[in-house]
Formats: sequence, structure tokens, C-alpha cells
Amino acid sequence: MNYANLLIQKSINRAVITINRPEKLNALNKPTIEELHNALATLKNDREVRVIIITGAGQKAFVAGADISEFASYGVEEGKQLAAQGQKLLFDYIENYPKPIIAAINGYALGGGLELAMACHVRIASNNARLGLPEVTLGLIPGYGGTQRLAQLIGKGKALEMILTAGMIQAEEALQWGLVNKVTSQEELMDNAAALADAMSKNSSTALAAAIRAVNAGYAYQRSGLDTEIEEFGKCFGTADFKEGTSAFLEKRKPKFS
Ligand code: COA
Repeated sequence: MNYANLLIQKSINRAVITINRPEKLNALNKPTIEELHNALATLKNDREVRVIIITGAGQKAFVAGADISEFASYGVEEGKQLAAQGQKLLFDYIENYPKPIIAAINGYALGGGLELAMACHVRIASNNARLGLPEVTLGLIPGYGGTQRLAQLIGKGKALEMILTAGMIQAEEALQWGLVNKVTSQEELMDNAAALADAMSKNSSTALAAAIRAVNAGYAYQRSGLDTEIEEFGKCFGTADFKEGTSAFLEKRKPKFS
């Protein structure tokens, strides 16, 4: 498997997928989302792989969000398509994947990066990780399931606080809130993720798939929430605040919202 934006490393019973755009803090552009889908689709049929770990290249970021430069010129319909396709190809796909997927969060997990981690079944973070959904600073809302999965994981009150303030929290706070399952040092992150993968891979793979299906079934109501998210995300693309927010990021200045 050869990918432009991913590294794949297989060892006994598991595969590590590393998102490899460190110069852009591993921001998720369309090709990366497609590659992640294709890599996961291939690994689904690989009988040697029972658990998958997703992480980011470099010391600084897991994923710093969807690639802002890619969608800054989009209009409402393109915005809706972006969210709908991304959710289908990657975020819902991961949530419903039949093998456990662990997010090893090695730095910033922002916007689409935190949404990616939240779609995974389990999250481990290194102590330098910073987590947040900063979309409202761009005149946007989370569009890859963040409005639904964050509330599921940490409750509605804290989720709204994080989304509305666009605040970033540290790994220890994320642990207290239940947003991550464990915090480790940077050096030990991948060993801890591997140990967790090993513990899972000893169990029946048909039972693991059944457990994922059963837990997810309890949250099936979220589909209407995800559809509303796609609609509202798309509508943001028609606003002056979106133009200002994305331009400000790309011009490296603070936005001035009307
Ligand atoms: N989309 C596109 N490019 C991104 C990006 C994103 N989400 N996040 C970071 N980058 C790029 C930067 O534009 C910069 O590129 P350049 O060197 O060509 O100018 C590079 O990655 C390094 O980022 P930089 O901002 O210089 O690093 P920093 O250490 O000063 O700040 C962050 C780190 C994470 C605080 C900052 O990059 C940031 O706020 N990113 C956007 C987070 C966000 O809003 N995510 C939600 C998107 S929907």
C-alpha cells in the first residue's frame, strides 16, 4: 500500500496508520480523507490485522483540523457536500468499522482532528496534546460529527462550552472529562497504544465487531443530529463571517466578525 499522505506500518495483529503532512500539521485535505478511507477498506479485509491505531506525523500535531486552504472559497452547496462526503467516507466509516480503531493523539487535535479522534473507538493522548473545536473562530461549526460525538462523550453542557468558546483543553483535562481514555508521556504514547491493541486483539474478532455494532446502536438517534450538522455547516459557507474567518486564518491575523 503506497499513499502520498499516509504511512502504514504493520506488525503482529495490528496496523499503525500515520497521517503524514507534518508541514501542515497533518490537516485533513480531500486526498488524505480518501486515502484514509482506502487504507481502512484494505485493512478491513486483511486477516492479519485485528486492531488499527491512527496517529499523526511529527511531534506537534495529531491533526490540526480540516484543511482550511482547501475550502476557503467554497459556497453553501460545496460546504454541505464537504461535510456529507467526509462523514460518509471517513468519520461514520470509522465509527462503524468492525475492527477496533484507537486514536493515538500526539499533539494538537483540533476541529476535524478532534472529530477524527472522537470517531475512533478509543483515544489515548500524550501529555502535550491540546484538544478543541475552534470552528466558530472561522465563522463555521464542526462538520464531521463533532457536534454530536462531543456531546455523547462529555455531555451537552461541556460540549457546548467547548464549541461556543472554541477553547482548547489540555490532555489531563480531557482525561477528567472522559474525552480521552488515558494520558501518557510523548515517548510512551505508541507503546501504550500498542499494548491496548494487543489486549483487544486477543479477543474474538467476531465478538469485537458485535460489541461495536451494539454500542453504536444505542446512539442511532444521532443521524438526525448529523444531518442537521451538515445543513448548518453548509449554511455557514454563505455568510460574511465565514469569508472573514477563513481569510483571517490564511492571512495570519485575528478575524473581525460583524
Ligand atoms: N488547515 C490548513 N493549514 C493548516 C491548518 C489547517 N487546519 N492548521 C495548520 N495549518 C498550516 C498553517 O497554515 C501553517 O502553514 P504555512 O507554514 O504554510 O503557513 C502550518 O500548518 C503550521 O501552522 P502554524 O499556524 O504556523 O503553527 P502554530 O504553531 O503557529 O499554530 C495551531 C498551531 C494549531 C494553533 C494553528 O495552526 C491553528 O490554529 N490551526 C487551525 C486550527 C483550526 O482552526 N482547525 C479547525 C479547522 S476546521
